[in-house]
Order: sequence, then structure tokens, then C-alpha cells
Amino acid sequence: MEQVAVLGFDAARAQAADLAIGQVLDRLRGQTGAVAEAMRYAVEGGKALRGFLVIETARLYGIDPARSAPAAGAIEALHAYSLVHDDLPCMDDDDMRRGKPTVHRKWDETTAVLAGDALQALAFDLCANAGCSAEARLELVQGLSVAAGLRGMVGGQALDIAAESADTPLTLDEITQLQAGKTGALITWSATAGAVMAAEKPDRLKLFGDNLGLAFQIWDDVLDVEGCADTVGKAVGKDEQRGKATFVSLLGLDAAKARAAQLIDEACDAMAPYGAEAECLRQAACFVISRRN
Ligand code: IPE
Ligand code: IPE
Ligand code: MG
Ligand code: MG
Ligand code: MG
Repeated sequence: MEQVAVLGFDAARAQAADLAIGQVLDRLRGQTGAVAEAMRYAVEGGKALRGFLVIETARLYGIDPARSAPAAGAIEALHAYSLVHDDLPCMDDDDMRRGKPTVHRKWDETTAVLAGDALQALAFDLCANAGCSAEARLELVQGLSVAAGLRGMVGGQALDIAAESADTPLTLDEITQLQAGKTGALITWSATAGAVMAAEKPDRLKLFGDNLGLAFQIWDDVLDVEGCADTVGKAVGKDEQRGKATFVSLLGLDAAKARAAQLIDEACDAMAPYGAEAECLRQAACFVISRRN
């Protein structure tokens, strides 16, 4: 196995952001016009957590970041598309994202729909270029299509929107299922990418990703209640206003935070077999439930 340098969490996340976003920007080089500009705008300025998960889980298997970067870029492009569409007036109707006007606000709805569509297509192009065997690339692409689609992010988004006008509040199990789709699927894909690239069993990373993904969305819902819009970079107080079904709406802040902390403990426990090599991923898990944006 190649030896790959181990970094601390902050340095690793900065590296992941540069590499992942760099992949998307490289693909867009020379492209002009509003849709291309909106794609560049949409992909920049986030935490790059999903790209980080790809690069760091690949590093666990001795895979150099230069080889995992296309898969990291793929998930950041796909995630950016999901945010551009999530913010549209027909979805959450938001004006701010990552501390900037949302794409449909800066340009218009047509540009936002098309930039999202093209970011999704670009994600599969990048994914097909990951630095691993053809079989592993196929598994990455197929896994991403499931995680992004009706059985993943899109399906979860549909349940999320339907819950706004439901007659009775969703149960905890239903909210868990909704969040596993809308947020968990892409995070689990990212967390398992390293094992998939290395043609190893992704079981432990799947457990890590499933727990991390749910905790991540619970914390997003916590920030919507107690965060400050300037720090969070998007409007707060929207979930209650729109009648979203969240752990916070059902359990209250304290119990939701306790559940998120429990999930992060489980995520860290799942990484035990990787020993000290997974320290950076454990730090990321702690970051998920202490972050302010
Ligand atoms: C926001 O995701 C959308 C959710 C799934 C909760 P992030 O909080 O990872 O957004 P960025 O990429 O850092 O802006
Ligand atoms: C969105 O969840 C998840 C996506 C699939 C984009 P939210 O609607 O809670 O995300 P934010 O709060 O707008 O970032
Ligand atoms: Mg939403
Ligand atoms: Mg939203
Ligand atoms: Mg939210």
C-alpha cells in the first residue's frame, strides 16, 4: 500500500476543498455564459465536508488525494446542484446561501435550474474519472446515481416537501427515513468512497456515514433554530415557518442534540478497526455537532 501523508482535520478539509472544487473549476475552464458562471458560483464557498470524506476515507486505504480528487469533485458538484434546487421558490424559497445570494436571486430561476442540471451531469463525468479500477469506477457511478435519486436525495427531498402540508406530524421513524434520503445518502456515498475505490468492504465506513449523515442533518436543524444567519450563511428560523418535519420540531432542541451526540459516538465507534489512521475522520465527526455553520 502507498504511504499517504496524514493531516489534521483543518488542513485536510482545506486540502479537500481545494482539490474537489478545483476539479469542477477545471472542467468548466473556458466555458462562458450565465449557466457556467452560476455553476462556478454555486460550487464555491461551502465546507466541502463530503469531498473531505471521499479524500480521507480513500487515504485510509493508501489512495493519494490526487487519485480521489475527481470523486471528491463529483460529490461537491452533486451537492451544489442539490442546494441550488433546494433554494428555488418551488422548494424552500431561500435568498441566501453560503453568505451570498442564492443562484436564482443572483441570476434567475431558469439559470438556477439549468446550472443545477449541468452540475449533476458534471458530477457523473468526474466520478467516471476517479483514479481507480474500471470496476470500482462503475460502482462509484452506480452508487452515486442511487444516492442522488429517488431512493436517496431526491426521494428525501420529496418527503421533506410533502411533510410541510401533512395533516399529522411525521413520526421519529419517518423523519429518520426522510433525512437518511435527503442528506444521509450523499454523505454515506462519500464516506464509503474510499473503500469502494480500494475494492474493499465498505461496512464500517457505511456505519460511520449513516450515523454521521443523520447527525449532520440534525445539527443543520439545530442551527436553523439557534444559529445566527450571518454565521450560518443562510436564513434561520425557516424550518418552523415552513412546517418542516425535523428532530428538533418533534423532540425539542435538547433531545435532538443528545440524539446527534449519540449518533456521533456510534460513528466514531464504527471507526475503531482503523485505529489512529482514522483520527482525522473522528475529528470531522465531532466538528459536525459543534459547527456554527
Ligand atoms: C447543507 O449542507 C445542506 C444539508 C444537507 C443540510 P452543508 O452544510 O454541507 O452545506 P455547505 O456545502 O457547507 O454550504
Ligand atoms: C437540504 O436540507 C438537503 C438537500 C438535499 C439540499 P435543508 O433544506 O435543510 O438544507 P438547507 O438548510 O437549506 O441548507
Ligand atoms: Mg430543503
Ligand atoms: Mg433548504
Ligand atoms: Mg436546513
